[in-house]
Amino acid sequence: MQTKKPEHAPQTQFAVADNCLLVGGIPLPRVVHRAGATPLYAYDRALLSARVQVLKQVCPTELRINYSLKANPYPALVQHMASLVDGFDVASSAEMQTALSTGIDAGHISFTGPGKTDAELRQAIAAGVMIHVESTNELRRIDQLSRELGYLAQVMLRINPDFELKSSGLKMAGGAKQFGIDVEQIPAVLKALADMTIQCVGFHIYAGSQNLNAAAINETLTKSCELAISLAQIAIGAQRHWVRRINLGGGFGIPYFPGDTPLDIAAIGQHLQDCVAKLQKTIPHVETEIELGRYLVGEAGIYVTRVIDKKFSRGQCFLVTDGGMNHHLAASGNLGQVIRKNYPVIVGNKVKVESEQPASVVGPLCTPLDLLADQMPLSHAEVGDFIVVFQSGAYGASASPANFLSRPAAVEVLV
Ligand SMILES: Cc1ncc(COP(=O)(O)O)c(C=O)c1O
Repeated sequence: MQTKKPEHAPQTQFAVADNCLLVGGIPLPRVVHRAGATPLYAYDRALLSARVQVLKQVCPTELRINYSLKANPYPALVQHMASLVDGFDVASSAEMQTALSTGIDAGHISFTGPGKTDAELRQAIAAGVMIHVESTNELRRIDQLSRELGYLAQVMLRINPDFELKSSGLKMAGGAKQFGIDVEQIPAVLKALADMTIQCVGFHIYAGSQNLNAAAINETLTKSCELAISLAQIAIGAQRHWVRRINLGGGFGIPYFPGDTPLDIAAIGQHLQDCVAKLQKTIPHVETEIELGRYLVGEAGIYVTRVIDKKFSRGQCFLVTDGGMNHHLAASGNLGQVIRKNYPVIVGNKVKVESEQPASVVGPLCTPLDLLADQMPLSHAEVGDFIVVFQSGAYGASASPANFLSRPAAVEVLV
């Protein structure tokens, strides 16, 4: 059989022994036995720690690094992250409770996102969680709820700037957006704050997600700093509010597809040194922070699914697995991909073999969209083997339609 060139560089963050992938030093079949079942998500504790360490090495020591739970809210992983990062960003009541349960200081949990309900806002105010305000109406509701409860709400204004994050997988700023308050409206909002029962401590600018272009990220960081400084000057000049916290967002991406190159994190760290120094020079006693999801956890996780059936249709090999897009929507290409590309996929218990064969890995759902690998060169797999999808630590289990076809949820383990 003709062998195609591998479509992906080998993923080197997970070690291999006896032709078998290791998670946290444990051979994959043993991890599966320990978890009790496939399909499963396995997250490697040591890889999570190593990633935060690398980031801390290049970033200024004063910069707080927050973890965004939306990337992966699995409680054991969040608990592990609590020992590594400086704060959390949450997007729902459930994420807020997970974050609070770790024991991290509530003032270093931020609550971001449009559509916060009154009940969620009440919880955040009562807990002392920092609310990132997304609209002038939301600000008025927070004021009202804060008065009713008798607790002072802590907020930062999320700004929708007049620039966007170039080369970004998802653009979340610039132009008309559901996120944040348009920068033009901020002077009026700062005036209105004077009559409110709200402590506004700063600004939050989040421009986009999944960006592998360090120059584009740095350009946005520069613009965000300049914007934060000019808004702080308006606020401080009017002596209405003491701006003491600036959140510069993030958007750091990870490589998924052939041709993707890892982010030049050293270049970003170097630039952040300048940004933080500038902010500290201009805004006395300012605290600076960034919030990252995918970059911190994405490469530390794999999705594992077992081959249930192997069939040939008109010359093409299909490996039918016990899980698919119901657990891993992103790998199936249905979470925002315009043109479907294969995630890095291997046969986890047969990492290297002499010959590979092109095969499609399809899940158990009754839709052609349930595709984890489309005619990829894979080690010769049989029923019972384990298919591994790399780069699955972020936007995996919680970003997938787990109830579709009423199939069981994936198991999650931190190893
Ligand atoms: C406000 C906010 N913060 C943080 C994130 C996390 O992004 P990422 O996982 O790309 O780092 C997002 C993602 O959409 C976001 O909207």
